[in-house]
Amino acid sequence: MSSIVIKLENLTKKFRNLTAVNNVNLEVHKGETVGLVGPNGAGKTTTIKLIAKLLRPTSGRILINTNHGVLQDLSEISRTITQMGFLIDIPAFYDMTAYQLLKFYAKLQNYPKDKIDNRINELLDLFKLLEWKNEKVKTFSKGMRQKLGIIQAIIHEPEIIILDEPQTGLDPKARINIRKYIRELQKQGKTIFVASHMLYEISEVCDKIALINYGSIIAFDTIDNLEIGLKTKELNCQLLDPIPLGNLGFLVDKLIEKLEPFLDQNLDPNISKIPVIYNAKNQGIKIFYDGTKNSRGQILKTLVKEFESDFTVISFTQPKTSQLERIYSQLITENNTQIKTNKRR
Ligand SMILES: Nc1ncnc2c1ncn2[C@@H]1O[C@H](COP(=O)(O)OP(=O)(O)OP(=O)(O)O)[C@@H](O)[C@H]1O
Ligand SMILES: [Mg+2]
Repeated sequence: MSSIVIKLENLTKKFRNLTAVNNVNLEVHKGETVGLVGPNGAGKTTTIKLIAKLLRPTSGRILINTNHGVLQDLSEISRTITQMGFLIDIPAFYDMTAYQLLKFYAKLQNYPKDKIDNRINELLDLFKLLEWKNEKVKTFSKGMRQKLGIIQAIIHEPEIIILDEPQTGLDPKARINIRKYIRELQKQGKTIFVASHMLYEISEVCDKIALINYGSIIAFDTIDNLEIGLKTKELNCQLLDPIPLGNLGFLVDKLIEKLEPFLDQNLDPNISKIPVIYNAKNQGIKIFYDGTKNSRGQILKTLVKEFESDFTVISFTQPKTSQLERIYSQLITENNTQIKTNKRR
């Protein structure tokens, strides 16, 4: 029995002469959370619409693991596939109350009738919408509609959850709640496929990242593995007190001298001209280093020992989000250059 639940095989979608999805191959395993990331117009929504059967592939196919552990060609499955739940675009809602609408979706997905009311209450409560249960959806704010869209996607407890930009329009607290809820779903072993621009949200919840550019998947791996190819790695180090302006030049020189063996020797000048930067605003030192664990240890040791009389380090981290941002821009830039070069040939 395969643990693959979604398999995209040479999946291609063309709109006239525009190839929105270009020969995509991707496998998502049971229980994985995969983030689909890429610039505007890269083909994220089109990919998701193909999986949701809202669009038909130009070529290639989509295989889905239906309950029996066998991969089945999506185009050969005629009934609604209740083990999948989708949030795509901002849902178009009607002149119904939240309750009526969710009940409608639950019935559509064949959710057991006797469980519907409890399920609706549970989810409305979770998303802080319970007091809006009997209000018309047309009076809801954008974020509230987005929440309803997410509830609609999971109302029938699907095994595979596919979300397109779930965080759009949500306030910070709601975003935190969604993240928590996604973790809850992960614990239950659900498989989640989520397209998003919010790299922070993605880095927090996803096991793997699929990077898409001009319809092609240009990377698909865990953040840790993608980081290996990263040209520059950075460390952020926060200090207890600000460095007095008069000492700054001297201290930065001393830092560069003492940390020399561990610093990035080929630092891209587009990223930074010097390997150690002090930011007075947040009393932080940014260090571009060679990325090895050993160097990280040595850097921390040096900062504590050799700079004892200069400053006190209160935190020392490798920022996950900015790593992902860097992976993102490095890979997209490289790919764009490659596309341009190929065109010229
Ligand atoms: N129905 C359609 N007809 C023609 N072209 C389309 C259609 N839907 C999408 N496209 C084109 O396909 C490409 C991919 O669009 P898609 O919506 O999948 O991008 P996306 O990655 O979701 O972007 P965004 O981050 O802006 O949501 C774009 O160039 C878009 O203009
Ligand atoms: Mg989109």
